[in-house]
Amino acid sequence: MKRLPDDSIDLTVTSPPYDNLRTYKGYTFDFEGIAKQLLRVTKLGGVVVWVVGDATIKGSETGTSFRQALYFKEIGFNLHDTMIYKKHAPHPPNVRYWQCFEYMFVFSKGKPKTFNPLMQMKKCIEKNPNRASTYRQKDGSLKALNKNAMKRFKKAAQNNYRIADNIWEIDSGWMKSTADKIAYEHPAIFPEQLAEDHILSWSNPGDIVLDPMCGSGTTCKMAALNDRDYIGIDISEEYCELSRWRIRAALSEGVS
Ligand SMILES: C[S@@+](CC[C@H](N)C(=O)[O-])C[C@H]1O[C@@H](n2cnc3c(N)ncnc32)[C@H](O)[C@@H]1O
Repeated sequence: MKRLPDDSIDLTVTSPPYDNLRTYKGYTFDFEGIAKQLLRVTKLGGVVVWVVGDATIKGSETGTSFRQALYFKEIGFNLHDTMIYKKHAPHPPNVRYWQCFEYMFVFSKGKPKTFNPLMQMKKCIEKNPNRASTYRQKDGSLKALNKNAMKRFKKAAQNNYRIADNIWEIDSGWMKSTADKIAYEHPAIFPEQLAEDHILSWSNPGDIVLDPMCGSGTTCKMAALNDRDYIGIDISEEYCELSRWRIRAALSEGVS
């Protein structure tokens, strides 16, 4: 990342190594160094999506995800949204409930310059349209949404859709995260849909999308298929080659 110019990246979608859950061929990573570089290379209004979960060590979750989120804030990012990726392939329980989610921290440098929200069928809005057009203030009273938010809301309501929730349920696991069999040579891929939905939400065609720990190349592949430019970096040359292979195959076949 040190070779990238300042203020050059529109969007980063990435997932770091989670504590020591996987060894990734023995590489280590300097979290604080990467976070600072991300701040430097991100354009004003650009966004970083950081997908992360915690290991459980001696019966206690590490809380690394929260520490990392607070560090991003400390160095100057906004914590724009704490989103949840709900998996369809959860980890089996061990004296606790099924472990079925990871965090998707959405950081922004200043206010996000792009937001193309995903929509979902509205349910509660149908029952009480007035409630959905207001929000509660500190003293408990209701206040109407501002003009722009109201416009967006009305347009969505007319079409029977509203802006989607910030919990995304995404199919994951063998042949669900991707149809590229070769991608599973990497031990910890995230689903193509996760990368694509963030790319569509926080960037526009022609923007530059970065994944500084690109693993099997999921973010780069989905950026390429959605007419974004992309930069993928991984400390493992083997994973870089895997990424190149997937991107080439996707672009030559024209399939996702
Ligand atoms: C959770 S995986 C990313 C998987 C990716 N999102 C995908 O869908 O394939 C984390 C990646 O970080 C890479 N990594 C670890 N330390 C790194 C470092 N210092 N610099 C760059 N990449 C690193 C690992 O090789 C691994 O591929």
